[in-house]
Amino acid sequence: MPSMQNDAAYLRLLDITKRFGAFTALDKLSFGADRGEFISILGPSGCGKTTLLRLIAGLETQSEGRVEIQGRDVSKLPVSARNVGIVFQSYALFPNLNARDNIAYGLVGRGLDKNRIRQRVDELLDLVGLRGMGRQFPAQLSGGQQQRVALARAMALSPDLLLLDEPLSALDAKVRVMLRGEIRQLQQRLGVTTIMVTHDQEEALTMADRILVINQGRLVQNGTPREIYDRPATPFVAAFIGAMNFIENAVKVENGCYRIGSHHLSISGENGSRNLASGAVATLAIRPEDVMIRVDELEMPNILASRVEQMEYRGANFRLRLNIGPNQRPLEAEVPAEKVRRLNISPSMPLAIQLPHDRLRVYASAKHRCNDGSLCENTL
Ligand SMILES: Nc1ncnc2c1ncn2[C@@H]1O[C@H](COP(=O)(O)OP(=O)(O)O)[C@@H](O)[C@H]1O
Ligand SMILES: [Mg+2]
Repeated sequence: MPSMQNDAAYLRLLDITKRFGAFTALDKLSFGADRGEFISILGPSGCGKTTLLRLIAGLETQSEGRVEIQGRDVSKLPVSARNVGIVFQSYALFPNLNARDNIAYGLVGRGLDKNRIRQRVDELLDLVGLRGMGRQFPAQLSGGQQQRVALARAMALSPDLLLLDEPLSALDAKVRVMLRGEIRQLQQRLGVTTIMVTHDQEEALTMADRILVINQGRLVQNGTPREIYDRPATPFVAAFIGAMNFIENAVKVENGCYRIGSHHLSISGENGSRNLASGAVATLAIRPEDVMIRVDELEMPNILASRVEQMEYRGANFRLRLNIGPNQRPLEAEVPAEKVRRLNISPSMPLAIQLPHDRLRVYASAKHRCNDGSLCENTL
């Protein structure tokens, strides 16, 4: 039985599995998209993002499961019958056609008359900010301009769905940030339901209404950017999106209270660990920007003693590495540069820190580690 029958209706994927021989690239993946929603599919390289997008487009066929667009089962339809617009990472423009002819390609294929095509191409050039550049060939355009042409081409036939596969990852950092905003504005103005694949967490956080985090072919979290950042469902999500400190070997005392060494920490955001038994070993997590430096009010809860091990200057902020005891990995704290100057923080200085109860997360202990030693997977 499909597992997400009541999910949003515009686009719906139901228990999608994709195998390549004995290898399972996607494993029982289900999600839905509302009309007009911008969904970002985020995950590390090789986790199945492109495969998923190709399945939605009809460039690939799933081994099991179903794809529906507006309630219609399109699982067996070829790409030409799905009315989707696609933009790939590499610009994939026809090098021998100028921008106009690239954009017009699908329109010509539909047999529209010449005047109508000219009019539509003008509209599309305007839409992506390339008015007057239609006669340029791809080699005469910058990467950002080529990607705008690709976007105009994808939008030419007013697709039901816009599918973007890492559309910005080949571009310079500055252009990438600019196009990020432009694509988002365009998408909102046209109201086109959009699925964008990316491995860039910042791109996903800034552009999407909702993020699906995928790891090894499985959906690990589906939520708004804020939910994903503030309440990552697993240590993998926590470590993949933003920076996260993990404090291991915390012992559960009771609901809302954990012990590390001789310190007791109260925690309000307990989520799934509520059903851990007293005495169970857990991993706590806190983001570097949530680690608070305290000079007075040391009677407050969740205060730890630390010593500054290392300071890294990052312009607006300092990243401090804080030693919190012999059996713990150091904590990273992100502290505004102004505060570092005001408190005259320097290497090897002792510092009291507070771990706010509402910014701590708890995960049932996860022992699996990535090759680089970081905590990266968990069976929760
Ligand atoms: N046509 C194919 N044949 C065999 N394996 C494939 C094929 N396409 C993708 N894969 C494998 O499926 C996994 C997911 O690939 P892909 O969807 O391209 O990942 P991503 O886009 O997230 O980097 C990878 O391990 C890749 O090698
Ligand atoms: Mg890919």
